Amino acid sequence: QVDESKEVESIVLSYACQRRTTLENHNTVFTDALSLLAENAELSDEDGRGVAFRRAAAVLKALHSPVTDLLQLRGLPCLGGHSLRVIKDVLENGASSEVECTKQSERFKALKVLTSIFGVGAKTAERWIREGIHSLPQLQDSAHTLNRAQQAGLEHYDDLNQPVTKAEGDAIGEIVEKAVMSVLPGAQITLIGGFRRGKLTGHDVDFLITHPEEGREVGLMPKVVSWLESKGFLLYQKTTRNSYLESKDGPARPSSNMDRFERCFSIFKLPEDAKEGTKQTETLTEDTPEDTCRLTTPSLVKDEGSQSTKRANLKPWRAVRVDLVVSPISQFAFALLGWTGSKLFERELRRWAGHEKAMSLSSHALYDNTQSKYLRASSEEEIFAHLGLEYIPPSERNA
Ligand code: GTP
Ligand code: MN
Ligand code: MN
Repeated sequence: QVDESKEVESIVLSYACQRRTTLENHNTVFTDALSLLAENAELSDEDGRGVAFRRAAAVLKALHSPVTDLLQLRGLPCLGGHSLRVIKDVLENGASSEVECTKQSERFKALKVLTSIFGVGAKTAERWIREGIHSLPQLQDSAHTLNRAQQAGLEHYDDLNQPVTKAEGDAIGEIVEKAVMSVLPGAQITLIGGFRRGKLTGHDVDFLITHPEEGREVGLMPKVVSWLESKGFLLYQKTTRNSYLESKDGPARPSSNMDRFERCFSIFKLPEDAKEGTKQTETLTEDTPEDTCRLTTPSLVKDEGSQSTKRANLKPWRAVRVDLVVSPISQFAFALLGWTGSKLFERELRRWAGHEKAMSLSSHALYDNTQSKYLRASSEEEIFAHLGLEYIPPSERNA
């Protein structure tokens, strides 16, 4: 037994981007506890502590068997004293007192509820809590003027806090495909984010759009958005130039063409019947959706399906968060790698690049500080190779 655990230790490398982390997690009881503490730290403006808990959780996610004894953790990276105390508590008492305490604290509960509104971050929630606003009714009764995003977030609160299924993601994908194809035939659409990593549900659906001919993607986003708007598919959208690189990645400063790199945060209005394929059944009236669903694709009618069908009686659509990103083909591999996640995997890739390779990685480019030049890549495999890392496929980036 002990020898076996020693073997486990030796394969856990310290950066999450050096490890294969599938969705099969044998240690959810520990990783849930650590993730909750990470979330609480992040909501409390303690990012350092947040990352420490996330790294500890990620190490446990990479193990091939459940931890049953603290001794099995000897030699594993990223497990600090605090994380070990939490794990010990769970092992000995079935739960961590710190986690239970946090979960029950009014502050944490309020932060969770308020930041679950699309458009509300930790800072805003913090400010509201200081003013005595702890719940949605209190927020609605308050005299606060909400911005456009927050209004949409509040209006679609329930829908947006219900996980998006893969079937819904695929249905959104077909709509996005139609939109893109009608404004720029030949463009390419790739599912990114959690669904690309094989997750079965997500908090949103993410797409990366490019065109094989450099430059053809310029101006694409506003056209796609107009198309979607004209067909009534958008409940909310905000298109921005990507400023991510400028704020965070110093040296890998954009060449002028990065102005082309745009993203759109949106809320889609997904018709309930769209989930069953784009085939529009003209006969689909209010009293027949259930039967129609069953006839076309019985496999899609699951528990969540029937829940939403119930709602469909009132509202034959649901709101879904969708992120669209447009990248020039020259940056596509970097955008693909940068937007596939997980968030910790991405963070670790950039840390690895900076600390171990003296390189700066962003969703646009990879800059080698030693050679003072950008390293080109047309695939994710090439980027891993530049970084001196073994290639990890999307399904094993679930750190
Ligand atoms: P779920 O949506 O809950 O399934 O998880 P997810 O992994 O898809 O997370 P999310 O949609 O929030 O983000 C997807 C990926 O995009 C993650 O790897 C993020 O790091 C990345 N990402 C999010 N926002 C930005 C941004 O502003 N710039 C860049 N470059 N990447 C981002
Ligand atoms: Mn996502
Ligand atoms: Mn997203």
